[in-house]
Amino acid sequence: MKKKCTKAEIRLPPKIVSIFHGEARYRGAYGGRGSGKTRSFALMTAVKGYQWGMSGGTGQILCAREHLNSLDESSLEEIKSAIRSVDWLSSYYEIGEKFVRSRDGRINYVFSGLRRNLDSIKSKARIILAWVDEAEGVSDSAWQKLIPTVREEGSEIWVTWNPETKRSATHRRFRIDPPTDSKIVQINWQDNPYFPTVLNNERLEDKAKRPDLYDHIWNGDMLIHADGAYYAEEMRSANNEGRLTVVPYERSIGVVTAWDLGVGDSTAIWFAQMVGQEVRLIDYYECSGVGLDHYAKVLADKGYHYESHILPHDVRVREMGTGKSRLETLDTLAVRPVTIAPQLGVDDGIQAARTMIGRCWFDLQKCERGVDALRQYRRDYDDKNMVWRGKPLHDWTSHCADAFRYLAVGYRPTNDWGEPIRRNLQGIV
Ligand SMILES: Nc1ncnc2c1ncn2[C@@H]1O[C@H](COP(=O)(O)OP(=O)(O)O)[C@@H](O)[C@H]1O
Ligand SMILES: [Mg+2]
Repeated sequence: MKKKCTKAEIRLPPKIVSIFHGEARYRGAYGGRGSGKTRSFALMTAVKGYQWGMSGGTGQILCAREHLNSLDESSLEEIKSAIRSVDWLSSYYEIGEKFVRSRDGRINYVFSGLRRNLDSIKSKARIILAWVDEAEGVSDSAWQKLIPTVREEGSEIWVTWNPETKRSATHRRFRIDPPTDSKIVQINWQDNPYFPTVLNNERLEDKAKRPDLYDHIWNGDMLIHADGAYYAEEMRSANNEGRLTVVPYERSIGVVTAWDLGVGDSTAIWFAQMVGQEVRLIDYYECSGVGLDHYAKVLADKGYHYESHILPHDVRVREMGTGKSRLETLDTLAVRPVTIAPQLGVDDGIQAARTMIGRCWFDLQKCERGVDALRQYRRDYDDKNMVWRGKPLHDWTSHCADAFRYLAVGYRPTNDWGEPIRRNLQGIV
């Protein structure tokens, strides 16, 4: 449908203006608190409703969240105050205690939780716009359910969220692999010209007292569970000191790999170059459900010149099927020479890794997953007894962190003759 041109003005942060320029099926903004996301999108829903209604259309504006138990938890109040802040919107809409609709009866707001009550509205609604605020937690099945219900010609889907984890369905759908017809930007408090003093005071308070959460809350970074995270401190220093950066492969120096071998689990491999006191993490690889030949091929394809491969002691265990140890299999696959990491306790390994991180430089692009895992690797928490267990939580970070530990305890610097100390197939020096 044709949009009617209005000369009326509204105030929006410039980054938000860019999202609403031109046609798009999806519009979105993600970032930290106080960027103006909620306020601006609330305002724009009213503008879109106005344009639609004034051009003779009718329909519903759906304001959704993943969970919604009552109107109090909805965007209703935000919509109301956005409309009240603009004269020409106030005269177009009628605002009741529990509803907002246009006075001409063409446009009606509905508020819904995607998890529980989407089914009840989707049959009757002609949805012209669906806006999901606080969308970080929206599951993929909720997106799959919502999107086909927004099917009016010219209808749009808007998404705003504060990022928390890279594994969220919203992150994957709208940042990693955004729809072609979308305008999505990152926005933070610095981009909000109307950032109020009260929020700025809260921001400064968080900065001083909760530095581990600050970047998540205010700068739109992913949440790092610093509680019980073994390497949070060390990784924060690495970041502050600019050691999470671009670390190119140095041809004249051998690459040391360190592995955690998964059986029915992920296998993780770090690729490091030792230069003086520096440990340069130039690459990282992780995969599961494939044989050792796969990893041998990955190593070969990367084209690095290898100095040694550090493996955990269980590499010597013979496999039932073949009667061969994985060490022998790796040798057949030309993954050699192998150094077997000493069998230290986890705590000693973690201590060694902590010390090593202080000398580490990470290639942020190639080691993205590895860096994330090191940041999040943490102690297990016993919810029932509300105590920390004395061991690491087994989750997606474990394999990476184990491999990293083997690097920390297993690497022996090259000796005077320029030869690394190697172990033979039996693991004897
Ligand atoms: N278009 C706007 N006009 C006036 N003030 C705004 C506007 N957008 C944001 N603000 C101010 O910025 C504050 C934070 O905006 P909000 O939308 O709540 O941010 P976010 O959803 O990103 O946390 C609001 O409470 C309001 O004071
Ligand atoms: Mg908000």
